[in-house]
Amino acid sequence: MYTMGIDVGSASSKVVILKDGKDVVATEVVQVGTGSTGPKKAMERAFETSGLKQEDISFTVATGYGRFSLDNADKQMSEISCHAKGIYFLVPTARTIIDIGGQDAKAIRLDNNGGIKQFFMNDKCAAGTGRFIEVMARVLETTLDEMAGLDEQAAETAPISSTCTVFAESEVISQLSKGTSRNNIARGVHMSVASRACGLAYRGGLEKDVVFTGGVAKNAGVVRAVSSVLKTDVIVAPNPQTTGALGAALFAYEAAQKK
Ligand SMILES: Nc1ncnc2c1ncn2[C@@H]1O[C@H](COP(=O)(O)OP(=O)(O)OP(=O)(O)O)[C@@H](O)[C@H]1O
Ligand SMILES: [Mg+2]
Repeated sequence: MYTMGIDVGSASSKVVILKDGKDVVATEVVQVGTGSTGPKKAMERAFETSGLKQEDISFTVATGYGRFSLDNADKQMSEISCHAKGIYFLVPTARTIIDIGGQDAKAIRLDNNGGIKQFFMNDKCAAGTGRFIEVMARVLETTLDEMAGLDEQAAETAPISSTCTVFAESEVISQLSKGTSRNNIARGVHMSVASRACGLAYRGGLEKDVVFTGGVAKNAGVVRAVSSVLKTDVIVAPNPQTTGALGAALFAYEAAQKK
């Protein structure tokens, strides 16, 4: 039996197809979020890689910010539930999940059975999200890939005190004009994102293992910053951008069995 999970986020669309609720037969990410083209392309690619057709899918669960925009989903579920489900499947020792996506950041506390104890979310502003890093990468005239490694050569952290993206952008421009190195600024940007997300994680009472997920977990600089703020190692989820879609596909399997 095949089930599908689709996570339509603000920055990207993710699709996972599962066989019998355990084997991943397709994982696709398209860097286009809410709207019709991103999810459609991600699904087309998933069908192509798996050699399956829509008719082969027993049940589809949609999650993410744009989950109500799909017409082929059988059910919609929250991102919190789907991330928790996906992470617990991949890392059963996870007790704290930090998810940083394109426009929000979340911290989820799990109990020993993968149930959600508590969650905290920042979806009010771009600060502390992937969008913040994208804006700063543009000011530093670099790509996300290069930006993620710039902090490794930093001699110190250029502090970014503003919690507003627009003001923080001005701060970065001003730092550059004072001659502060791009490396130091990149570390400052990563630390700023990390401290906001970790603030959410602390509110739930930090319990190990800490698993970092979402597209921003692909940024090694932010992973370093999160470990440094929490003063502990963090586990980066395998394929971090697609854990919500994986969780959705797992819920789809449970729903398909009840059908
Ligand atoms: N290869 C990469 N290197 C560094 N950062 C990356 C990479 N790919 C994606 N990102 C980061 O991931 C972010 C998008 O994350 P993700 O795809 O989880 O967001 P989303 O689920 O669409 O958004 P949200 O959950 O907030 O609605 C981008 O803003 C970018 O900062
Ligand atoms: Mg997301």
